[in-house]
Amino acid sequence: MPKISSDQPVADQNANLRAMLSESGYSDKAIDYYIRKPHMGIIENADQISEMTGTCGDSMKVYLKVENGRIADVKYQILGCPGSISAAMAAVDLVRGQSIDEALALDDADVFKSLEDIPVKKHHCIQLAVKALQKAITEYRKHNGGRDLIAATVPAGPALRSAGDTPGETCCTGAGKPGNCGAAGGCCGKPS
Ligand code: FES
Repeated sequence: MPKISSDQPVADQNANLRAMLSESGYSDKAIDYYIRKPHMGIIENADQISEMTGTCGDSMKVYLKVENGRIADVKYQILGCPGSISAAMAAVDLVRGQSIDEALALDDADVFKSLEDIPVKKHHCIQLAVKALQKAITEYRKHNGGRDLIAATVPAGPALRSAGDTPGETCCTGAGKPGNCGAAGGCCGKPS
């Protein structure tokens, strides 16, 4: 197995690190995420900061930035193994630009597929990265009353359901309620 020493040039250290991780079962893509750490750090004006510690004792802090109901950016601070770091970096690339709902649907299999391969005994590290992100998104939504979730999923204005409907009025859902009647007719007291 190649040795890594602080006396070696950084390029050599990275080459030896790559060789060690490759021998352990990490794909080139997972190794690249681990070495580059593209989403490691903090977001100064984050909308949500959440923390999670795994059963192994490793921990992650997730910084979340949301704009117009979509994940604008995510950063992780991680005290953890190469598996947890590569999984977290891949998770960010998967959810950036997604709506809150889409990002919450991210699962371990999505991240594993993106990483291509990591050692079997490191699969729980993917779970930690995904759960930490889901916790941050869930807490963001809780603290924001679902405002951004609604902005991301609901069209800008109410649709008109029939020729006689009034622009700007929402569709009613019960008898006698004001608004547009819809195809069923009569629910607002208007003739169908
Ligand atoms: Fe704890 Fe990898 S060993 S997250």
